[in-house]
Amino acid sequence: MAVSVNDCVDCERLVSRRKENAINFPTYYNRPVLADGYEKTKFLIVGLAPGLHGANATGLPFDGDFAGRFLKQCLKENGFKLQKERNSGAFTYCITNAVKCFPPSNRPLQSEINNCLRHLKKEISVVQPNFILCLGVVAHNAVVRACKEDILVKFQHGNSFRIGQRIIFDSYHPSKRNILTKRLTSEMFRIILKKISKEIEKVLPEE
Ligand code: URA
Repeated sequence: MAVSVNDCVDCERLVSRRKENAINFPTYYNRPVLADGYEKTKFLIVGLAPGLHGANATGLPFDGDFAGRFLKQCLKENGFKLQKERNSGAFTYCITNAVKCFPPSNRPLQSEINNCLRHLKKEISVVQPNFILCLGVVAHNAVVRACKEDILVKFQHGNSFRIGQRIIFDSYHPSKRNILTKRLTSEMFRIILKKISKEIEKVLPEE
């Protein structure tokens, strides 16, 4: 199932940046980047926004940049595969971002996060994940609002909490800065993925 946000013009700043990028980087994707593995699965990962030379270039979240390589390597080492690459014995996931267009300096404005919430809500309603991993505070706040507008839960690395039937997990964002400063290590990330795989195991089998 697909939702076309290619023609989304909700955010003036991001749309004008998309146009500039189309001139400066004509081989890049330069459009809103939707979920990879956009189909029903138990586990959804939500990041911040496409990186200029990563997701914005390839059209796939967490693809082609440092954050993506770190994240995908950790996921692979802990037995997780993209839904579209699934084979038996692997936990599967879909991956997306709170904001679908590349934001200058990787910092979306609050108004842009607000505008993009409808796309995240739509993705969550299609994927229907039992478990969501939020990478960083922007993803956390967007996911909480997308799942239930009226509750206040503070972001805390390693924390998990329920919204209805769903369990939400928080991790620091795997940005280059967080990795190089060791704010987030692969061991810290492994601990969170272990918690998630234990929860997924409780609701298997399905596939
Ligand atoms: N790439 C993405 O798609 N999202 C991020 O948050 C970081 C890198």
